[in-house]
Amino acid sequence: MDGDVRINPYLAGNFAPVRTEDDFVAKVTGEIPRELAGTLYRTGPNPQFEPRDKNYHWFTGDGMIHAFRVEDGKVTYKNRYVRTPKWELEHEHGRSLFAGFNPMASDPIAMGKDGGVANTNILFHAGKLLALEEGHMPFEMEAGSLNSLGYADQYKGRVTAHPKLDPKSGEMVWFGYGVGDMPLSAGMSYGVTDASGKVTRRSDFQAPYSAMVHDFLVTENYVLFPIMPLTGSLERAMKGLPAYAWEPEKPVQVGVMRRDADVSTIRWFNAPASYVFHPMNAYEADGKIVAEVCRYDAAPLFPMADGSPGQRTAARLTRWTFDLSGKTDAIKEEAIDDLDSEFPRFDERLAGSAYRHGWYAGDPTNSKSVKLNAIAHLDLKTGQRQVHAFQGGDMTSEPVFTPRSDDAPEGEGWLTAVVYRAAENRSDFVVFDAQDVAKGPIGVAELPRRVPFGFHGNWVSA
Ligand SMILES: [Fe+2]
Repeated sequence: MDGDVRINPYLAGNFAPVRTEDDFVAKVTGEIPRELAGTLYRTGPNPQFEPRDKNYHWFTGDGMIHAFRVEDGKVTYKNRYVRTPKWELEHEHGRSLFAGFNPMASDPIAMGKDGGVANTNILFHAGKLLALEEGHMPFEMEAGSLNSLGYADQYKGRVTAHPKLDPKSGEMVWFGYGVGDMPLSAGMSYGVTDASGKVTRRSDFQAPYSAMVHDFLVTENYVLFPIMPLTGSLERAMKGLPAYAWEPEKPVQVGVMRRDADVSTIRWFNAPASYVFHPMNAYEADGKIVAEVCRYDAAPLFPMADGSPGQRTAARLTRWTFDLSGKTDAIKEEAIDDLDSEFPRFDERLAGSAYRHGWYAGDPTNSKSVKLNAIAHLDLKTGQRQVHAFQGGDMTSEPVFTPRSDDAPEGEGWLTAVVYRAAENRSDFVVFDAQDVAKGPIGVAELPRRVPFGFHGNWVSA
């Protein structure tokens, strides 16, 4: 681990890829509730070959889907690569050809070819299972076999990995950034896919500056585009400096638009520099828009514009308020929690509406290391928090909420997550009672091997 043979941290420990595609029957301990029937799909980066870039970034590895199917208290597991055009081309050549974020550093064979990795999120909309990554179109997978079906080419461009499913209209609302002919541009798109799966709207506009825009916010009537100064620059990349870098002298600018209006009506609100990968939820209240977000003081995991290392930082849940009828374009920011947090989730039947219950993966030691070793439940009405901390270096994925039944009260149901057991170098699928997180997992399904750290997942009911 010294000198020139330093191992890239994103290829070590449980960041390291697994290179087998398996089907396992998991060994269950405790009780997986009989009413819990469906599949937890998860995804994350899992490079097929040794990356050609010695500064390989975690965000750029090939997507691999991990499916945990739950039926009658039993759990089966299946994992498959997302066979993107990039995956197929590299498979044919038996080596890595694409160089992550820097379009200048790829093998000539890869120049001008699609480098999508579909590694960030997997969700089900209008009968289709979509593997998502913000640089590319959604990629369709077959829900049972996890066979790759190919790009959903009606999108004709980049789509976020964090579209929002509108529980009232059945629409999928989305955006894209870096849109246009030039890489790392400030071009953005706003789009809507209707409940039948057809793209019915796509409107392009320009962001105030080019940035990595990972997620956004949608309420019943509004959409919010957060532009935060993790900036993108082709000019910088061509000089051998970071394609994406933290530039804290630029402000946060959040564009607010009515969903039924034209992109020319976007009103820009602002705040001092900060970074948000993930909001929890957003809603309208008394002429204002309120949102809870996991806010960092600086973008983690990325360098400064001169290539020097970025700040070590962790996110805390923060409430953003946008006063639509007031005279100010300032975003009001209030800290609402004091635990390092990431991967916030809620009862998505209330997406875009006022809600009470939120969950996240956290770090009770507040180590600012992005080590997520706990699951927390925050009651936004009472401020009460319940935490279950895993021990011995074990780490958890994002906790995904599933209601007990379609008409169960908000927040009544289960959380499912994947936990890395450090001492055994192995992973477990775990189930929590969402209203009694402190009790720990009520059911555990043991896998014979580990599931690498990943990003996001969603529950699809049977
Ligand atoms: Fe994300």
